[in-house]
Amino acid sequence: MPVDQHSADQRGVDRRDVLVGGLSALGGLAAGAAGGVGVARSGAAPAPAGSGPGAGSGSEADHATTVELAGSQRRPFHGEHQPGIMDAPQAHGVWVAMDLVPGADVTALQRLMRIWTQDVAQLMAGRAPYADFEPELTATTASLTVTVGIGPRVLGLRGVTATRPTWLQPLPAFPQIDRLDPRWSGGDVLLQICADSPITVSHAQWVLTKEARTIATVRWVQRGFRQGHAVTRPGETMRNLFGQVDGTVNPVPGRDDAVVWCGPSAPRWLQGGTTMVLRRIAMDLETWEEADPLTRDTSLGRRQRDGSPLTGRAETDAPDVAATDRLGLPVIDEFSHVRRSLPHEKGLTDRFLRRPYSYDDPPDPGRLTNAGLLFVAYQAELEQYLSVQRRLAEADLLNTWTTPIGSAVFAIPRGCREGEVLAQDLWA
Ligand code: HEM
Repeated sequence: MPVDQHSADQRGVDRRDVLVGGLSALGGLAAGAAGGVGVARSGAAPAPAGSGPGAGSGSEADHATTVELAGSQRRPFHGEHQPGIMDAPQAHGVWVAMDLVPGADVTALQRLMRIWTQDVAQLMAGRAPYADFEPELTATTASLTVTVGIGPRVLGLRGVTATRPTWLQPLPAFPQIDRLDPRWSGGDVLLQICADSPITVSHAQWVLTKEARTIATVRWVQRGFRQGHAVTRPGETMRNLFGQVDGTVNPVPGRDDAVVWCGPSAPRWLQGGTTMVLRRIAMDLETWEEADPLTRDTSLGRRQRDGSPLTGRAETDAPDVAATDRLGLPVIDEFSHVRRSLPHEKGLTDRFLRRPYSYDDPPDPGRLTNAGLLFVAYQAELEQYLSVQRRLAEADLLNTWTTPIGSAVFAIPRGCREGEVLAQDLWA
């Protein structure tokens, strides 16, 4: 075994011994978790197995190296904005909504945010937080990002000084399309955890939810995926489970930041933050299968084959909604999804960032599939999203095969700098 590898493994073993010993001395995990706040947390997690010089040669080793490279990618936690929003979507994601325990006040919220701030910073850096008993998993950062959201009830907690923005409440009902199941709605706080490894996501979820367990309980969990890492070319737009190229038109970081991040007119705790909508949208694969290619392309306004608009050749060509065919009919149907969703206004008014993930859960008895889209949208002002959602609820050919079954809204506070605590402006 190479020297570096040995010392890394040794560090892991030593650290676990110290942790277990330390926790029993504290009287158990619960005491450790609660007492973890403000306690210096230490220890780089061991390097991923098989890493280090001389790990081997030939095709297997080459493959191992590729996997290790993806597994050791890290994204920064500290900054003006929270991570996991305008950065490239990772292959796996989980959204966990939690409810604060009855009687929780601002002190409980502060404790939770301190724990999460420390632990998220550690996990994203590949270092094991205090109550992490599997530091071997933490070592594989795989571009991990954790994004923390705030639900409406938090703004009413005793001791919270910030006022609740009027939009921070469930979305208005869209009775034409909504068939909402309450089990996918609501929540006091949200964790969005994304990484290029499902094990990294699962481990971070375990660490962060168990750290919170004396303060908040899990309300719902939604798991999603996109194309696996290194399966398609970098920058290639993902396909959803209908097979459509999904995500062509989206705000570009640097150029369109104002579409996503709240500006000076927002309450202070949201400046540099954003608003998030998570819609769980069922996609009926069984009836979609019956739709012929023409129907599919017409309902979208783009070709399923390559994502190009019906008036263009390449995926990135702008749809020409004024174009007509020989009979004078619009080439892009006026009720197609793209025609209804593309901006009707100049400027920011009806644009937002889409960062969707597919889901594919076990089907109900008698059904073959239970699949759809976790439609995650971020916008500086909720109205940017709502103006498009209203149009799509009124008419959108794609509604034939899609049904919103869950809906939740969260405020995403700004990012934090070294020494700050997530959402600290809520009580400052
Ligand atoms: C399961 C549900 C949905 C599916 C399968 C779906 C699929 C697609 C596809 C394939 C595109 C074209 C390529 C692209 O630009 O990404 C698209 C575009 C778009 N969709 Fe959806 N979508 C869904 C739900 C929604 C919802 C709920 C909204 C908003 C309320 C929305 C808003 C948009 C927007 C704004 C665009 C870009 C339009 C443009 O500027 O060209 N979509 N969608």
